[in-house]
Formats: sequence, structure tokens, C-alpha cells
Amino acid sequence: MSSTLGLSWDQHHLGQEVQMGSVARRSFASENVVNRDHALPNPSWNKDLRLLFDQFMRKCEAGSWKRLPSNNHSPQSFQDFQTRFVDPKLPKEQISQARLFTRSFEDGLGFEYVMFCNDAEKRVVCFFQAGPYLQGAPGFTHGGAIATMIDATTGMCAFRAGGVVMTANLNINYKRPIPLCSVVVMKSQIDKVEGRKVFVSCNVRSVDEETLYSEATSLFIKLDPNKKLA
Ligand SMILES: CC(C)(COP(=O)(O)OP(=O)(O)OC[C@H]1O[C@@H](n2cnc3c(N)ncnc32)[C@H](O)[C@@H]1OP(=O)(O)O)[C@@H](O)C(=O)NCCC(=O)NCCS
Repeated sequence: MSSTLGLSWDQHHLGQEVQMGSVARRSFASENVVNRDHALPNPSWNKDLRLLFDQFMRKCEAGSWKRLPSNNHSPQSFQDFQTRFVDPKLPKEQISQARLFTRSFEDGLGFEYVMFCNDAEKRVVCFFQAGPYLQGAPGFTHGGAIATMIDATTGMCAFRAGGVVMTANLNINYKRPIPLCSVVVMKSQIDKVEGRKVFVSCNVRSVDEETLYSEATSLFIKLDPNKKLA
């Protein structure tokens, strides 16, 4: 499946430098980001999601893993991306209304998730609870919603390793349907980087790891700051 779902600059990178070509952009850490961090427990999180969150927060304390905050707006620092790549004729009101797709539902109804990264090992793990508005077949999660979260997770993995990227290709094998409202574990890792191409793989399993729901490979391309996108 070829993806148009990529959200490779999901808002988890607040506080770190964004590289565009060889130019390091300023840190987002000092920005006054008013919208809340969605990658923290809320009352809609079920027991599994809370347990996994707590387990990885302990790993964060040990130092190898980092929780990735997640907001629903693009930080002001993406002004640079906008200037370079977004059509200047796009109405400003439309841009100001824009929200990150995966963070556009009310708590618990859509995508509830938290990601953790291990930069040394070039891995990103996402714990995802699919809310009732993500139904596909009755009682199961929509394949597009699963693709969205695989894309977001592998995209984050590519971004951590390669800076600003876009999805060029996403291949998914759906092996078992994911029950709606359950929690799954998405593990992604960088397979290789060849020039501007970043190859990432991902598997989606049940919390007890007994069930393999999906396997995926993705190709991300590091953006060339001298090329127009459209
Ligand atoms: C991804 C994208 C930015 C790449 O465009 P580009 O910067 O002009 O890159 P190029 O086309 O020069 O490709 C760079 C390299 O990647 C390879 N590549 C690009 N797309 C590829 C694909 N789908 N499959 C395999 N290889 C691909 C090219 O063959 C080229 O390889 P080479 O350097 O060995 O010759 C562009 O194809 C695009 O805008 N696609 C849409 C992205 C999108 O909307 N994604 C969803 C939202 S993130």
C-alpha cells in the first residue's frame, strides 16, 4: 500500500533541534506551547495502556528511553517548513485551523497513544489504544487507522534518525484484526539509511506479545530544502 498518511513531524519532537539540510534550526523548548501534552494518561486510558506507560516511564528514569510529548498543533518553528514548502496561496485561516490528525478526537474516542524513543538503538515504541470512532469491521479497528499509527510511529523513528522526512512508501501485512478499544504495542526500528532514504520496519503485537497483528516496512525520504514539494 502506498501511503498518503504520513505525519512524520508528529509533534513529539518539541525540545529538540530540527535539521533541514545542513542548517540546524532553533530549539522549540523555549516556545510558549499552550496546547496540552496528549501523551500523558487521561481517564480514557485503560489498564493496559497505563501499565505500559508506567513500565516505560521507569525505563526513562533508567536513562535509555525517552517519552515523546505530543501536541495537536504545529509549533511556530514549523514556520520554516511552511515558508519553504507550503503553497503561499493557501488561506491563512486554513493553516491556523490545522490540527494533527491523530490528536483531533476527544479523549478516548480516537487515537490514544504514547511513544517512547531509544535514540542509541534507533527504535521507537508506540502504545496505542484504538477508540470506538476508529471502527472498521464491527468490533475491530479500521485498517486505515492502523496504517495511520504505523505511519506515525515509523515516521517518528525516521525523524529521530534523519530529521524532516516524508513517507514515500508504506507496506503493511495485516495478519490478525485488532479488537476495538484494545491496546497494541507498535515497535519500529531503523533498518538502514542510504543517502536521503530512511528504511524503517515495524511490527504490531498484543500486549502479551502472543498475537502478531501487523507487520510493515516504510520508506521515508529526507526532504531536500532546495526542492519544492508541489
Ligand atoms: C517523498 C518525496 C518528498 C520525495 O521527493 P524528492 O525529494 O523529489 O525525492 P526523489 O524523487 O528525488 O527521490 C529521492 C530518492 O528516493 C527514491 N524514492 C522516492 N520515492 C520512492 C518510492 N516511493 N519508492 C522507492 N524509492 C523512492 C528515488 O528513487 C530516489 O532514489 P535515488 O537517490 O537512489 O535516485 C516526494 O515523492 C513526495 O512529495 N511524495 C509525497 C509524500 C507524501 O505526501 N507523503 C505522505 C505525507 S508525509
